[in-house]
Amino acid sequence: MNERPEILILNGPNLNMLGVREPQIYGRETLGDIEEMCIAHADALGLDTDFRQSNVEGELVTMIQASRDTAAGIIINGAAYTHTSVAIQDALKLSDLPVIEVHLSNVHQREPFRHHSYISAVAKGIIVGFGSQVYTLALDAMARLIEGET
Ligand code: DQA
Repeated sequence: MNERPEILILNGPNLNMLGVREPQIYGRETLGDIEEMCIAHADALGLDTDFRQSNVEGELVTMIQASRDTAAGIIINGAAYTHTSVAIQDALKLSDLPVIEVHLSNVHQREPFRHHSYISAVAKGIIVGFGSQVYTLALDAMARLIEGET
């Protein structure tokens, strides 16, 4: 474990296309812009970040498993796998780390299939609908959570 707690920030499928993907829903910022914002915000909170993205469900599972030994918490935007993946829920459960679920869009205002999340059942809390700000809000909440644990 690092001297400063490290937060795994995990991004699921198609989030690598932010900036060009449905900007009316997801905004114009790229995932790189969001990563930079997270690094700066985490730094101010005394946290390190491990910011990752994959389009492959199994890779996300492997990243979650590996974080057991390195991370103090997980912030996850599971993207479409949020609504389908028992494997990601199982991996988060076995990580035994505090989990915060985020979504850029307010999924509850969208199609019914986006209203159910396999991640919510294993998350400490959920932040949705504030665009890229959901990541910094989640980092604030995670800092508090970790502080409470130590
Ligand atoms: C999303 C919402 C999901 O329903 C969708 O599949 C995404 C992005 C969001 O951040 O708003 O890919 O997770």
